[in-house]
Amino acid sequence: MRLQKFLAHAGIASRRKAEEFIVAGHVRVNGSVVRELGTSVTDSDRVELAGKPVVIPDVKRYLVLNKPVKVMTTMRDPGGRRTVASLIPREGGRVVPVGRLDYETAGVLLMTNDGELAHVLTHPRFGVEKTYRAVVQGRLQGEDMKRFLDGMRLDDGRSEPAKVRVVRAGPAASEVDVTIHEGRNRQVRRMFEATAHPVISLVRLRFGPLSLGDLRPGVWREATEKELSSLRAIASNAESADLDR
Ligand code: URA
Repeated sequence: MRLQKFLAHAGIASRRKAEEFIVAGHVRVNGSVVRELGTSVTDSDRVELAGKPVVIPDVKRYLVLNKPVKVMTTMRDPGGRRTVASLIPREGGRVVPVGRLDYETAGVLLMTNDGELAHVLTHPRFGVEKTYRAVVQGRLQGEDMKRFLDGMRLDDGRSEPAKVRVVRAGPAASEVDVTIHEGRNRQVRRMFEATAHPVISLVRLRFGPLSLGDLRPGVWREATEKELSSLRAIASNAESADLDR
């Protein structure tokens, strides 16, 4: 297995991040620093990252967390803010978040030590559908909805067509479900800003096959077998489409 894939499988980082570690000289194989990305390793090789042994955990874990607002989607925050690490059990092996929700966004967040699956699910070219429920300022009009459906100009390029469904519209605020398959930074907030309906609150209801259901904020559950087989189907489709290389 290629070294960057090994590090991703071990749940250390995404494959891309693992490549950065390798090129930067942080990775040793059998005691020697390796900077070549193509290097192959097997189970019998001793791999270290920053001096710490890296092993592939044999038990994969898939937790679905309802991330509350005012929690960072990281395992550590240098600023001392609360992180998702404080909401999941420590025992059973380290899991990391798949993708990111803003500090002020709540909702479904997958956490896993399956680095390969995480890589596929967050790959920009492989659009996993995400549905967000937004409460926004003002009454959303037909022309606003059309902009979501058509795609709209954002400062980092045009958005892909999104699905949009108004749940409730009033003069002061509207409740809207938006489904996108991109994962740009603060994308849903920026789309509503572009239509002059700033977001008041944002919750992710669905990430691919994972739904929030009645999971309360701050509570996690194991992904079900059915959800896992859907996630694996996404990953194997991605593999056959030769996503990365
Ligand atoms: N879009 C946003 O604006 N924020 C999120 O957290 C996720 C999607």
